[in-house]
Amino acid sequence: MDAAVVILAAGKGTRMRSNRPKVMHEIGNFPMLSHCIKTAQQINPWKIITVLGHGRTEVMQFLQETKKSIEFVIQEEQLGTGHAVKLATKKLSNFDGNLIVMFGDTPFISYETLIKIKAKCEQIDLVVLGFRTEESAGYGRLVTNSSELLKIVEHNDANDDELAINLCNSGIIAGNSLLMSELLEDLDRNNTNNEFYLTDCVHLAKLRGLDCGFLVCEHDEALGINSRDQLSQAEKNFQTTARTQALENGVHLIAPETVFFSMDTILGRDTVVEPNVIFGKGVTIGSKCIIKAFSYLEGCQISDECSIGPYARLRPGVDLSDGVKIGNFVEIKNSKVAEHTKINHLSYVGDARIGKNTNIGAGTVTCNYDGVSKHRTVIGEDVFIGSNTMLIAPVTVGNNSMTGSGSVITQDIPEDDLAISRSKQKNNNNGAKKLREILRNKKNNETH
Ligand code: UD1
Ligand code: CA
Repeated sequence: MDAAVVILAAGKGTRMRSNRPKVMHEIGNFPMLSHCIKTAQQINPWKIITVLGHGRTEVMQFLQETKKSIEFVIQEEQLGTGHAVKLATKKLSNFDGNLIVMFGDTPFISYETLIKIKAKCEQIDLVVLGFRTEESAGYGRLVTNSSELLKIVEHNDANDDELAINLCNSGIIAGNSLLMSELLEDLDRNNTNNEFYLTDCVHLAKLRGLDCGFLVCEHDEALGINSRDQLSQAEKNFQTTARTQALENGVHLIAPETVFFSMDTILGRDTVVEPNVIFGKGVTIGSKCIIKAFSYLEGCQISDECSIGPYARLRPGVDLSDGVKIGNFVEIKNSKVAEHTKINHLSYVGDARIGKNTNIGAGTVTCNYDGVSKHRTVIGEDVFIGSNTMLIAPVTVGNNSMTGSGSVITQDIPEDDLAISRSKQKNNNNGAKKLREILRNKKNNETH
């Protein structure tokens, strides 16, 4: 049966002590909300509705940028999780499929678990996802009778016996959409927090003689993020999972615990990653590449058999074709580099297009910024750029051409030409010897 997913993301997240809305805090360089959205999308739901409130301008902007068709409703006042879902159901009107509620601050629920929840919805009326933990403080507790779920008691409302229960509520609850809408109508605020608790749906369903049950997932999967401490724990868990996944996909991480991934990092088979490498947002790397130690990559597309680093910095808009070599202390931004070109030492390349089999000498700089605007540098194929060449953009360097070391190139270079722009060398006969004598005599006179 079709499902709709509601993601709650209206809360302020007071315990984060932040001006940002909680769900915008990042894990693997993406807002925690986008982790929920990504998983929700994997089950191909009929609709995804987010409930927004605190900091909604920031969240809405993010949702628009992702260009995914996510709907939203606004919860002006955060009157509780039950109230939030009730608002969302207004967008479901007569939808007769299953409704799965996820929390924007619980980002690690897996695709497999969502599928199990969907399947369980076909058997019983209401399903809650629980997890077992000894660190149960703050979580709601599932009161059960063998496989039957009787009610959920929030931490603040629980008696000593209930507090001793180690089966906690992950926040995920699912059931028929029309049924959930009816149950939500009956919620009240008679509890310690004076809120409409989503969790009370279970008790209300029981009063109607409905069948409520639960599934159990791992604690890590149900980690709810309410504080900075839990956020850093979440980042740690995310990195551990990303490393394991990379290894399982055939990537060789020499020291996995020192490599950091983003949610969208893609690495090809047989690529080797040396220690202390950071993958920012938007990195895709092909197979048989080597990313050497201490490199920082973001927003770049790298083809097969490339060698990057050590100490390379690839910034957004970099596109490297097969077999490109980028060496130490090289920074590249917004540039396309064709097959087998080498930029091996101490260079800055920005807003450039470089053809295949070209060699960029040590210390080359594309001077792309005049203080007001950015300009492009175009370098052809089989070019040899001498060390320490300054290319003053906009400038075009033709195929098979060369520049002399230390040249400042201000004009286009035609194909096959050699451009040298530096003052002519003059050797003074015995000049060094004479100068040294003068300097030594001067020093002696001063000290006596
Ligand atoms: C909630 C559950 C608790 C569960 C825990 C799991 C309730 C009443 N309690 O508690 O049983 O163990 O999550 O992490 O459901 N939100 C809104 N609007 C509101 C209130 C909350 O959108 O009016 C959103 C928040 O932004 C958040 C989510 O709902 O993403 C959960 O709210 P939060 O206040 O964090 O609930 P917990 O106290 O953690
Ligand atoms: Ca929470």
